[in-house]
Amino acid sequence: MRHLMNPLDLTVEEISEILDLANDMEVNPKKYAHSCDGLKLATLFYEPSTRTRLSFEAAMLNLGGSVLGFSSADSSSAAKGESVSDTIRVISGYADICAMRHPKEGAPLVASMKSSIPVINAGDGGHQHPTQTLTDLLTIRSLKGRLDNLTIGLCGDLKFGRTVHSLIDSMIRYPNIKFLLISPEELRVPSYIREDVLKKHHIPFKEVVRLEEALPELDLLYMTRVQKERFFNEEDYVRMKDFYILDKSKMKLARPDMLVLHPLPRVNEISVEVDEDPRAAYFKQAQYGVYVRMALILTLLKWKNQ
Ligand code: NCD
Repeated sequence: MRHLMNPLDLTVEEISEILDLANDMEVNPKKYAHSCDGLKLATLFYEPSTRTRLSFEAAMLNLGGSVLGFSSADSSSAAKGESVSDTIRVISGYADICAMRHPKEGAPLVASMKSSIPVINAGDGGHQHPTQTLTDLLTIRSLKGRLDNLTIGLCGDLKFGRTVHSLIDSMIRYPNIKFLLISPEELRVPSYIREDVLKKHHIPFKEVVRLEEALPELDLLYMTRVQKERFFNEEDYVRMKDFYILDKSKMKLARPDMLVLHPLPRVNEISVEVDEDPRAAYFKQAQYGVYVRMALILTLLKWKNQ
């Protein structure tokens, strides 16, 4: 049995198989409509979510399975002081697979050690978000036709944005990837990403403050929201929150085939006028999130039964 804590828990070949399966699920949904008949997914969400939780639920329903769970710590026994280890021991007897989101880094990992069902990390604090990364990879591969030879701009909150950390970790495994890291000074990537991931693997990258400077070079722009809930004080958040706003005039600086991705939710960092631009792919990306989670659930359940 395997869990998914970090995108690197999967090999490049395994990721490619999951993405192939997800593409097939998009085209032939009927073929998979009963793949999980009689099986249950538990969604244990100790932190708010719309897309991740609902796309997990939609994924399991599309496979013919059922879902149970909670969507906030207040509505679970965590509010009474129950540990994630105890919760998962109990849930292991109620469901066949589980997705967990938690504000504390490493909480899903702790749960996986006590679990007798596969645990999927659906976001742990500012750390990792592997299923968002699978979504991003499926979007890039489907719309760009490749995962190699890309210049990728990551813009916004690169310090607290877990989707950014997971995406960098994953993309460096493909040939000829370059990064432009676009953020205010205070929201630059954590030093472990700069030193232990980028520099250690000799990945070309540049840290810049101005989006306008980076835009003309990019094959792909990954925008992110400033992660309000991870700030220690409101003042810093207010100062940072509108640092970047991608609008029509900035899009003129970009290549005609540059993709704009965003894990969503968006706050102000992409103005709604960009939504009509054919390069805006973030709503399509959210749809891919369902297919890739279907493929992941089916794959983990298959490995569990091997
Ligand atoms: C992201 C997350 O939860 O980290 N959202 C998501 O899962 N699509 C991004 C964010 O909250 O900014």
